[in-house]
Amino acid sequence: MEEKKAKRIGILTAGGDCPGLNAAIRGVGKTAIVKYGMEVIGFSSGFSGLINKDYVVLKESQLSGILTIGGTILGTSREKPFKKTNKDVSLINKPDLIKKHYHELALDCLICIGGNGTQKNAAKLAESGLNVVGIPKTIDNDVWGTDITFGFESALEIATEAIDRLHSTANSHKRIMVIEIMGHHAGWLALYAGMAGGGDVILIPEIKYDLDVVYKYLDYRAEQKKSYSIVVVAEGIKKPKNKSAARYISQKIRSNTGLESRETILGYIQRGGSPNAMDRILATSYGSHAAELISNGVYGRMVCKNGETIESIPLSVVGGKLRNVPLDHPLISKARGLGICLGDFCLSD
Ligand code: F6P
Repeated sequence: MEEKKAKRIGILTAGGDCPGLNAAIRGVGKTAIVKYGMEVIGFSSGFSGLINKDYVVLKESQLSGILTIGGTILGTSREKPFKKTNKDVSLINKPDLIKKHYHELALDCLICIGGNGTQKNAAKLAESGLNVVGIPKTIDNDVWGTDITFGFESALEIATEAIDRLHSTANSHKRIMVIEIMGHHAGWLALYAGMAGGGDVILIPEIKYDLDVVYKYLDYRAEQKKSYSIVVVAEGIKKPKNKSAARYISQKIRSNTGLESRETILGYIQRGGSPNAMDRILATSYGSHAAELISNGVYGRMVCKNGETIESIPLSVVGGKLRNVPLDHPLISKARGLGICLGDFCLSD
């Protein structure tokens, strides 16, 4: 019997927004429509759109002019269809509803664009029998199985520029400037932005820090007549509950060294605005590759980058895993070599 060719695909963006989502939607949609003659359905607000059957049919013309726009034209949410919460008093079984709507809409495949949580949900849907393809995005760069996620490079540029700008006030006022960078439980963004922005101290969740080491290092810099220091902290470092990482570290520095310190929490600025050139290319390539997989009847995969190659790996091996900065990452040894303090020890000790 001749195998049925994929004709109708659904697409959703889930989890936190990031630069490049529209570029990925465009990459999927244009390739699917122009090259393969498929029909593309866009679900609103992540998995909520599938649960509520809230969707639009995307025409090729609607995909023009969105490449450079931040956020997502489909909207997103942190809906976790497989998670049971106390609020779920209704007896609605969300995964069943998703499967029902998938079949009612006669979808041949569902594309899930998102971070770790989204890929986990995508893997579960694939396991339950749906045809699913994942595309990894997040400013955190922590999706397991790919060398890079789109969104990361744009956020890195924003965070780096913010650190650059802090140098002016740090220098003028002879202060310690502490800046908090997003990244959830991973330190990719803080490490890269810290290196690119010339951070003197960089604290990331992967490296256990000792505040005495940090105080000593900042005192040493002051003794060396370095009139200010930039301290870059990842939001995910160990800290008291309900306290921001930057605020905590800054207060500690102030009260234990006597040095004047100020904190900046960069927040959602890092996720906003237009994707940079590399993210546009990456997101477009991921989207286009996803459409190609579907045209070849290849499902249950997450698109990924391996070196210079765009390829895919089984969703079943991705789901639920986090990609942290490895302790032998070359940038860590380069940072140490430059005398940058990563919180555990410093070469100047
Ligand atoms: O995953 C992206 C991210 O911005 C993380 O860096 C951050 O921890 C989280 O999302 C914030 O989530 P929310 O948008 O739900 O506040």
